[in-house]
Amino acid sequence: MKLSAFFDLASFGMKTVLFKKKDAILGTIILTDKCNLKCKHCSVNNITAIVHPYNQIRDEMRRLYDMGIRILFFCGGETFIWHDGDKSLRDLVIEAKSMGFLIVNVVTNGTFSLDLPEADLILLSLDGDRERHNAVRGDTYDTIMNNIAHATSDNICFYMAVNQINKDAIREVCETARDTKNVRAVSFNFHTPYPDTKELALTKEEKTECCEVIKQMMKEGAPVFNLKSAFPYIINNSFPTPCYQCVVMENGKLSICGRCIDVPGLCDQCGYFFVAEYTLLFKGNLKIIFEMLRTYLKYV
Ligand SMILES: C[S@@+](CC[C@H](N)C(=O)[O-])C[C@H]1O[C@@H](n2cnc3c(N)ncnc32)[C@H](O)[C@@H]1O
Ligand code: SF4
Ligand code: SF4
Repeated sequence: MKLSAFFDLASFGMKTVLFKKKDAILGTIILTDKCNLKCKHCSVNNITAIVHPYNQIRDEMRRLYDMGIRILFFCGGETFIWHDGDKSLRDLVIEAKSMGFLIVNVVTNGTFSLDLPEADLILLSLDGDRERHNAVRGDTYDTIMNNIAHATSDNICFYMAVNQINKDAIREVCETARDTKNVRAVSFNFHTPYPDTKELALTKEEKTECCEVIKQMMKEGAPVFNLKSAFPYIINNSFPTPCYQCVVMENGKLSICGRCIDVPGLCDQCGYFFVAEYTLLFKGNLKIIFEMLRTYLKYV
């Protein structure tokens, strides 16, 4: 991260904490919900299968920028499916950077060639060792590993959604993050139980065990892009929700926090670590503030 970007974000953070402001800083644009996979834990793929046109995405970027958003995520569906004429995902990332977004990240299932050096982070979903990843995501593990080996940049961060299928594979994913070329770190979430995937949710005891493994891996030097001071709040779902500093834009509709905001009761069972980390940060939790500074400066 550039020093100027760091100071801009730090100044936003200080104003939010001191004046209890609710302005958003992190925005996600859903490029399409079309996806080439049908993962067992996912409720958001191929509902419309519409690939939103370039002009619409560019207008959405501009709208978010004008609202003060400076950290931008592109998400899906599968982001690498997105094309419009000769425009590709890479063009969107380059355009977002030139528009002035300070951090631009992309979330992907990793099954397409990875040529995205301009992104700050490519959050690549890896849901276990070969066996458990494939149990969640179909037979994709080897393709993904091959794409990572041939990636044109080293800005990859694994993104693991921990659920009943893969909860015992945390150690393996940490080790793979540590040992794989082009991979900087791994970031975890717990399964958020949408109505059609409730059976994959973890109990409080299971979440506690998972956090113990993650902490142990951090101690052993694994590159984990999460804040351990947030773990107790994540285990107990005692962090404030929703996150007012985050917004998501899908097909022109702007929602606070996540596209899941309209699912009744879901926020009380939210498994997204970033929600806990950001809401605690902006409430002025000192441990979180210091740990976030250290972690972001290390991996972004
Ligand atoms: C919806 S996917 C879209 C991007 C891309 N297709 C991918 O799989 O990374 C974004 C992330 O959300 C995660 N995810 C999907 N459903 C989830 C759920 N119910 N709880 C937690 N994470 C979930 C996926 O594992 C993935 O890491
Ligand atoms: S690849 Fe991503 S969008 Fe597609 S089904 Fe899996 S989690 Fe959902
Ligand atoms: S707090 Fe609610 S809206 Fe935000 S990500 Fe969690 S479930 Fe979705």
